[in-house]
Amino acid sequence: MSPARREPRIRVPAAAAPINSGGDVFGGWVMSQVDIAGSIPAVLVARGRVVTVAVESMHFRRPVQRGDMVSVYAEVIRAGRTSMTVDVEVVVDRNPENPETLTVADARLVYVAVDENGRPRPLPRQD
Ligand SMILES: CC(C)(COP(=O)(O)OP(=O)(O)OC[C@H]1O[C@@H](n2cnc3c(N)ncnc32)[C@H](O)[C@@H]1OP(=O)(O)O)[C@@H](O)C(=O)NCCC(=O)NCCS
Repeated sequence: MSPARREPRIRVPAAAAPINSGGDVFGGWVMSQVDIAGSIPAVLVARGRVVTVAVESMHFRRPVQRGDMVSVYAEVIRAGRTSMTVDVEVVVDRNPENPETLTVADARLVYVAVDENGRPRPLPRQD
């Protein structure tokens, strides 16, 4: 379910991220980046405002460390009447002196296109 690794939707250093009791980056911070990045292709498909309705899966594969450069890839894999399912992959670049690139998490979320009143809105036709 990895989205194609074209351009990351966001790229952010984990330098100032909150840490957990084990000294790694707090998972909630990673989830927040996932939600932000996942909304980007959804907004493009919806051509307007979306809200997150569900996190269908969230898999933390490896810890994120302070100092990692975090890239988040996301693609819409299914468009319904008003909803979009988005697959997200989180990758880090670590150790600039001895570089490695690791997949640290993946997720599947559902976004809904909404109107100005926050009610579901049909997706526009995709040309
Ligand atoms: C998202 C929201 C507008 C949907 O309203 P609703 O009255 O439940 O809408 P519907 O039942 O018509 O469902 C709308 C679409 O969402 C899908 N959906 C609803 N709940 C879902 C869930 N738990 N998982 C997956 N899809 C879901 C429906 O299948 C439907 O898809 P479709 O139109 O493509 O067939 C409403 O639940 C809401 O405002 N939730 C809060 C959103 C929010 O604050 N998110 C966090 C911050 S962004």
